[in-house]
Amino acid sequence: MRIALSTGGGDAPGLNAVIRAATLTAIDRGWDVLGIIRGYAGLLGDDEIIQLTRERVRGIAHLGGTILRSTNRGNPFHYPILKDDGTYTEIDRSDELVATARSLGIDAIVSIGGDGSLAIAKRLCEKGMKVVGVPKTIDNDVACTVSTFGFDTAVQTALDAIDKLHTTAESHDRVMVLEVMGRNAGFIALHSGLAGTADVILIPEIPYDIEKVCEKVRRRDRSGRRFSIVVIAEGAFPAGGEESVLGESMPGQAKRLGGIAEDVALEIQRRTGKECRWMILGHLQRGGQPTGYDRLLATRFGAAAVRAVADERWGHMVALQSPHLVTVPIEEVLREPKRVDPMHDIVLTARATGISFGD
Ligand code: F6P
Repeated sequence: MRIALSTGGGDAPGLNAVIRAATLTAIDRGWDVLGIIRGYAGLLGDDEIIQLTRERVRGIAHLGGTILRSTNRGNPFHYPILKDDGTYTEIDRSDELVATARSLGIDAIVSIGGDGSLAIAKRLCEKGMKVVGVPKTIDNDVACTVSTFGFDTAVQTALDAIDKLHTTAESHDRVMVLEVMGRNAGFIALHSGLAGTADVILIPEIPYDIEKVCEKVRRRDRSGRRFSIVVIAEGAFPAGGEESVLGESMPGQAKRLGGIAEDVALEIQRRTGKECRWMILGHLQRGGQPTGYDRLLATRFGAAAVRAVADERWGHMVALQSPHLVTVPIEEVLREPKRVDPMHDIVLTARATGISFGD
């Protein structure tokens, strides 16, 4: 048996722990393990394929990033090609990918990625490739799994930032607006905001009214709490308004969300007369050592993916459905993206403890 591992999309802390666990578990079964470098680029002749051995995966479980590297511009069905005039065009290179995998004797692929990578995995399965998925993303927006690895680490990073912003906000009687990642899901903002006792949490699932946010800031002022902490998800938007897009994306890439913190901070300053500052936490949330929770989940996912290959669960994703790891058809996972349920107890708890969602 020869399997190949691929990491695609934005990196997330814990990828290396998955790679290590999957490699060791497969070697333990006497299988051969390859690593496809940079998403699927290694299978398209644009990068390498490496042998994954015990030595190669030694000492990597605690490291952020991915030793296999990653890309969110490598969809083989829409592969961006640079033309002579400097513009890009997209072509379908999936047949080439399948042919190369066959010629290398690859029996199955373990695709470690978010919804984009899982959608590619599903299409490759339809072309006869044997693929098993592992859910990865700091955004936690993959359905059918309680959590994805990388999320806990991102929440911890955001929490550290909130704790630090608290002291400077209080010293200066300021409103600090912290923008966190999450794309169209508000999980990072919600979890870090509640754990960090923010005053306002703004998420895409609950469009906000800026006046309600200002009322909360003014109420705090009147009660003698002259500073406020606002945690906003990058995909949040005002009721009736639109999400904020940050700069230009490269061809083959989804649009980049971000920049909403500045609008919110400036508007609060204009309406309340309070001094406001904002910061975008950005890619710090994707880096660093995975937390113990993420390392453990990633390790369990890696080993479970190999068991799923042994059980021929093609087109399935390993998932955490506490306390067990299960496999779920990728088709089911992709049916609907996971979003914050506005009636979830975490939202209710935040409201009950005085946090405003600006609604
Ligand atoms: O999906 C993970 C994520 O970090 C999102 O939270 C964010 O919107 C996006 O990726 C950023 O992507 P890039 O690394 O391409 O800027």
